[in-house]
Amino acid sequence: MAGAGGAGEAGEGPVLVVDFGAQYAQLIARRVREAHVYSEIVPHTATASELTDRRPAGIILSGGPKSVNEAPAPTIDPAVYEMGVPILGICYGAQLLTLQLGGEVARTGRGEYGRTPLTVTRPSPLFSDWPTDVEVWMSHGDAITGVPEGFVATAASPDAPVAALHHAERGIYGVQFHPEVVHTERGRDLLERFLYDVCRCPPSWTHTSIIETQVEAVRAQVGSSPVLCALSGGVDSAVAAALVHKAIGDQLTCVYVDTGLMRAHESEQVEVTFRRQFHIDLVHVKAADRFFEALAGITDPETKRKVIGELFIRIFEEVARDLVAGQGGPVDATRSRAGAPDREAAGYLVQGTLYPDVIESGSDSAATIKSHHNVGGLPDDLAFDLVEPLRLLFKDEVRAVGEELGLPHDIVWRQPFPGPGLAVRIVGEVTPERADILRAADAIVVEEVRRAGLYRDLWQSFAVLPAIRTVGVMGDGRTYAYPIVIRAVTSDDAMTADWARLPYDLLERISARIINEVDGVNRVALDITSKPPGTIEWE
Ligand code: XMP
Repeated sequence: MAGAGGAGEAGEGPVLVVDFGAQYAQLIARRVREAHVYSEIVPHTATASELTDRRPAGIILSGGPKSVNEAPAPTIDPAVYEMGVPILGICYGAQLLTLQLGGEVARTGRGEYGRTPLTVTRPSPLFSDWPTDVEVWMSHGDAITGVPEGFVATAASPDAPVAALHHAERGIYGVQFHPEVVHTERGRDLLERFLYDVCRCPPSWTHTSIIETQVEAVRAQVGSSPVLCALSGGVDSAVAAALVHKAIGDQLTCVYVDTGLMRAHESEQVEVTFRRQFHIDLVHVKAADRFFEALAGITDPETKRKVIGELFIRIFEEVARDLVAGQGGPVDATRSRAGAPDREAAGYLVQGTLYPDVIESGSDSAATIKSHHNVGGLPDDLAFDLVEPLRLLFKDEVRAVGEELGLPHDIVWRQPFPGPGLAVRIVGEVTPERADILRAADAIVVEEVRRAGLYRDLWQSFAVLPAIRTVGVMGDGRTYAYPIVIRAVTSDDAMTADWARLPYDLLERISARIINEVDGVNRVALDITSKPPGTIEWE
């Protein structure tokens, strides 16, 4: 578990959260980390011996979308119950351990969903100072109807006679409700009792310790080789760069390609932050002309993305080749890895890969580069090894680490921005003039949303420029100009999104300002489409 903080004796490794599907495991893992204990997610197909190798301090069996009585329902190697490691089963996990250890789970026909009253029927180390009656969050169709031998039931709810159970000597616990959900009154407390009292984990995993561990890991990985980082202006690459810079200082060179399709003030902010504040060696490539030239006459969304992605890669390769040559490494930085006689000398490339991408890709191969990352993704035949200092972190942890490293709020809390930039928000041809119109309108949307205190509540809020013009009247004259569309959504992960119900007075301010301040716009419209069926971006 090097790289995560706290490896060592058996039982001093992470708390492992076993994933039985859906998003349950991620939320539990985050809650464990919020209690300052390091956790990782493992697939339910991991064997007991694989889990033992991780020296876990505890194991949590997560909820899942299936019923344990359904075939095929996911299970876990029953030898995990003999590992001598404390186990907590939550919802599906509690039912599964009950069944695997010889108890009974029945389809009672009376499920419980949402807030449910719970009565503590026996003392349990997990409910140390709970009142007898509390409210918990339930979501189950089946119910535990018989505890395994040696277990006792410790709580009940109206339709779950065994809402909690344990075998204290074996350190095995189960709860039918969801302690990871905020609606469970004492949920956080329950998880802390399991982690601190049952697993005996110290609450020592902090943002400072993440930084220290990653700084050491990066130093150990790269030695004295040169390291490159493509900065995009977004939070992930910014935090990754700041962290790597803390580790290796001048060995890091950041490359920022200004495509001419960035948000207002983005380029200055990257300059100020990285060059002036952090004194990072920053190569600022001003390539707007090349991008607009390549985009001339193109209206098809996919072609736009492709053109931008390819040009970005070409420019990155040019810079990388120059830098590597300048630092005495091999000149051909684009040579394939397999053919590289001296891979080490070609250096390393920093990527801001996050934990959800690692979990979703289902592999721990460091070589996968998200195709969404940066512009169109970097090619995998660049002769670099990857440095991914954020690959074990969730987005909220990345932000906290960014703040701890001293990155400005504006960067740390910035809403996501697509790699191809404003181009995917300009319907039709992307020209410098149209990019300027959109950039100015977008800056107003962002400024007013911030002023209304809503910026952090929204997943994204931005302006879109359609390829139509409409008639208007301003002063004494008729106008024929572009409309701007306001797009604002709430979301947790961008997979689904809801259109944000922005207050009317905010919409009015945005509309008035855009029409008064942005030449070439005479109308403002609001996009009220959720995802699905709409995507968040327009192209
Ligand atoms: P859509 O439009 O597919 O977007 O609903 C989902 C999320 O992904 C972002 N997005 C991108 N990010 N490169 C990126 O780095 C891209 O090409 C890209 N396209 C969409 C989008 O902003 C939203 O957050």
